[in-house]
Amino acid sequence: MFTRFFCRVSAAALALGVAAGSVAAEQVNIYSYRQPFLIEPVLDKFTEETGIETRVVYASKGLNERLQREGRNSPADLVLTSNTSNLMELVDKGLTQPVDSAVLEENIPAQFRDPEGHWFGLTTRARLIYASRERVEPGEITSYEELADPKWKGRICTRSGKHPYSLSLIASMIAHHGEEKTKEWLEGVKANLARKPQGNDRAQVKAISEGVCDLSLGNSYYFGKMITNTEQPEQVDWAKSVNLVFPNQDGRGTHMFISGAALAKHAPNRENAVRLLEFLSGEQAQYLYAEKNFEFPVRPGTARSDLIEEYMGEFKEDDLSLTEIAAHVPAASRLVDEVGFDF
Ligand SMILES: [Fe+2]
Repeated sequence: MFTRFFCRVSAAALALGVAAGSVAAEQVNIYSYRQPFLIEPVLDKFTEETGIETRVVYASKGLNERLQREGRNSPADLVLTSNTSNLMELVDKGLTQPVDSAVLEENIPAQFRDPEGHWFGLTTRARLIYASRERVEPGEITSYEELADPKWKGRICTRSGKHPYSLSLIASMIAHHGEEKTKEWLEGVKANLARKPQGNDRAQVKAISEGVCDLSLGNSYYFGKMITNTEQPEQVDWAKSVNLVFPNQDGRGTHMFISGAALAKHAPNRENAVRLLEFLSGEQAQYLYAEKNFEFPVRPGTARSDLIEEYMGEFKEDDLSLTEIAAHVPAASRLVDEVGFDF
């Protein structure tokens, strides 16, 4: 983790600032769980258009804790998260402040933002079923519910039930079916596992390519990351061994997550941070921001990358609100323990 702000102001601009004595350039300070390659092109565009410089602290974890520790002395204006749970935690810990913006309300569908304005989704991802091209016929599985069907006995691989991605899906099952039915479903899925839950989403696709199992659960963007992976070409083969199934297209739609942003409670550059947030929800930024990680733009009608169009296209999304999903996560976690899903 970087301990200092990654200063994106050019050396020349800094020298000028110093020479001029005091007046700081307009700026916005960002704590980012998102990696530099994902956001720098978008931040550059923002600076180009507004003249506001961006300073970023990148870290894969611990930014919530840091914000909390720093309290009202924190320099952070905006936090960019790579998943829903980090975002919700920020709000739960009282580290955010509400934003009231007609631009954000227009650009971001209601289920992907907090009704109170404390958090906003910027991209969406889908929780998919990855199915072996060799051993699963197209259309043979079409829903999350069917993962509990005994016909898949010994044929499913998954990561831990306790991982936020798993918990989010299980929480959505609770929202749609209630706890009792969800517990039965979870027991059914467990009974169908080819091996003890382990590894990340990509490791499950690798297992399918090796014949360990025929189905797995995984987020949509990992397919893009694998199929374009020039540094680890074996991942291209993993991706080519599967078809993507967007579950529940005939019903409620596929389970969705977000990456998002929240305004820090003590943001020293509040106005600039809101401008950046609005910019990130705009058409141009949405395309760039989503495409870099093979995610979907949250803003309706935004163009999608060629790769997304080729492999994923349009599909029906479950419009369950993230607030409701979050409310069921504790129960989901308890069910995972009760059925001994990971053992
Ligand atoms: Fe991920």
